[in-house]
Amino acid sequence: MQSQPNNFLALRQDFFNEGYCILPAPAPDEQQWLYNFVQSKWLNLLIADYPGIQDAARKMGLTNYHKIADKIDHQNFWTKDRRLFLRHEIGILTQNLSVFNHLNNVFGDFKVEDIEGIGHSEIYWRLVRPNALSDVAVAHKDSWFFSITNNMSETDQEGLIKVWLPVVSEIGSSGLSVCPGSHKLVIPHTSEVRHGRPKPDADPEVLKKYSMKSLPLSVGQAVAFDKELLHKGISHDNDFTRVSIEFAIRLN
Ligand SMILES: [Fe+2]
Repeated sequence: MQSQPNNFLALRQDFFNEGYCILPAPAPDEQQWLYNFVQSKWLNLLIADYPGIQDAARKMGLTNYHKIADKIDHQNFWTKDRRLFLRHEIGILTQNLSVFNHLNNVFGDFKVEDIEGIGHSEIYWRLVRPNALSDVAVAHKDSWFFSITNNMSETDQEGLIKVWLPVVSEIGSSGLSVCPGSHKLVIPHTSEVRHGRPKPDADPEVLKKYSMKSLPLSVGQAVAFDKELLHKGISHDNDFTRVSIEFAIRLN
């Protein structure tokens, strides 16, 4: 059996060869803690603006959000601003989630980056309702967003690694898909203004050429991927709302 340091070395190797690596899954108590933490954030935001649905939201829970989503202006309510964790919540997350130790073991020292310039490390979460194509983006490289949306130069992007982990998901059926090795390929793309900001876009015919692989992640289990890796959040038809967390780290 491999010792821990060798495992982390193998993960680092995966990252360079395939463009991503899957970090160890957390224990069930951490998974439960994570769910409760995000659910409480979701609930507080929701009932602050929609007090009338408090009872229904508490009863349904985060997993069943899609069953009450029609009672709110979903598209306009869940802006990225609202989905950003606050400074003190970032502290709680970094202390309680094992992913930060794993990242340190694989990549060495890093900081959680502030991509949008909010004044502190940026970690945010995302909701994907069943059968809601508008809740997922087309396949893309995050470097496209960093360049086009965030106006970051290549130098600004040096040392950035993206991290994604599910909070509500089912292994194999609903999560993130990646195109292994695509971090080494140049993929043509364009830009357009969506929701008032310049965003990358790509021709579906071009994207079709790249075969995507769904990642088998359990709750709280993170994938770290190269900013040049082609990836996509998968739409789904399960009877739950998928919830995930993402952030970027910068290696020191
Ligand atoms: Fe992305």
